[in-house]
Amino acid sequence: MTVSEPFDAVDVIVAKRDGHRLSDAQIDWVVDAYTRGVVADEQMSALAMAILLNGMDRAEIARWTAAMIASGERLDFSSLSRPTADKHSTGGVGDKITLPLAPLVAVFDVAVPQLSGRGLGHTGGTLDKLESIPGWRAALSNEETMRQLEDVGAVICQAGSGLAPADRKLYALRDVTGTVEAIPLIASSIMSKKIAEGTGALVLDVKVGSGAFMKDEARARELAQTMVALGTDAGVTTVALLTDMSTPLGLTAGNALEVRESVEVLAGGGPSDVVELTVALAREMLDAAGRPDADPAAALADGRAMDAWRRMIAAQGGDPDATLPVARETEQVVAESDGVVQTVDAYAVGIAAWRLGAGRARKEDPVQAGAGVELHVRPGDTVRAGQPLLTLHTDTPERFGRAREALDGGLVVAPAGTSVAPRRLVLDRIEA
Ligand code: URA
Repeated sequence: MTVSEPFDAVDVIVAKRDGHRLSDAQIDWVVDAYTRGVVADEQMSALAMAILLNGMDRAEIARWTAAMIASGERLDFSSLSRPTADKHSTGGVGDKITLPLAPLVAVFDVAVPQLSGRGLGHTGGTLDKLESIPGWRAALSNEETMRQLEDVGAVICQAGSGLAPADRKLYALRDVTGTVEAIPLIASSIMSKKIAEGTGALVLDVKVGSGAFMKDEARARELAQTMVALGTDAGVTTVALLTDMSTPLGLTAGNALEVRESVEVLAGGGPSDVVELTVALAREMLDAAGRPDADPAAALADGRAMDAWRRMIAAQGGDPDATLPVARETEQVVAESDGVVQTVDAYAVGIAAWRLGAGRARKEDPVQAGAGVELHVRPGDTVRAGQPLLTLHTDTPERFGRAREALDGGLVVAPAGTSVAPRRLVLDRIEA
């Protein structure tokens, strides 16, 4: 400890290790000192593990979140002529909802500042998807973001490095120390960025199931409740939907494939689950932003959301009419027997898409715009032997073998007559 530091990192670690609550001053100091490099990585690792094992109460989590917000800049959208609303998804396979949702909500004079990230692991990143549109640009300055919110009403762009820098450092550390799963740390990580972003209303889509970060519903509910409490305490109108991620959303997983499907939804078509979730989240955002009478289903059907999409893409240099990239090679996975599709496992499909080149293993890796998985069936569909179940897309055909291995056991065709329970997409709604 240097003379000028008010605490010793070891004392803070020991307090949490022994199950005590941390004081506001300890939290403020440890987050700030870690950001400054005074608290070392190995000390923060030990503290993160103590938090994972012993938890934090609501006041500690709120203070930790505030300390992470204070580590960087805060955006301020209060000068805009309309209210703001944002959505955050905890990530899933085929989750392209942000693409149709942002322009759809903008139709109703609500500004949507969707600051997003790139994909890592088996879930895709929104920016990777949009970058498959020729010319589209993810990096905007704060001034460009403000201008686009005023002119178009929706922006999907890269979160600037100034928002919650403590979180960036801590998240990278958690990733390599087995401490990602601590609910206080996940909740404060997500909410520090969303609160610093300055949105007035926030809708959380907390995924549950094999393709999600949270595999079980009880933990997903606890995470949702913690985040809703944090948002509410910070003055952001926050609600959460718990939604199913046991099977992919829609019929595509992969960057350009998902843009194509999103455009189908904006054109009034597309898979029913993508439409249902887009409309459900839009209703929540519009309600939270003071537009309870808006009818998002109508705006999808009559082309108003498509008009907003075209303006949003063009404003960031993209050509909404450009042909999307397609992979050089495809291969089909077919049913081995007659029967009924019982399982199309989200995690298996996510890993297959990733191995085909749609995702990255390290954050500096490139992604293939055309790679991914296209589904031809959903759980409950009747199939005949030889019928295509999936099409795999890649530019690098040597990847097909490993993608097929990922699907082993993830596609189950049961004997004809087996009953398959219908999917419940929205499992619960959580508000303060
Ligand atoms: N996403 C985040 O931003 N932070 C986490 O801790 C987990 C998911």
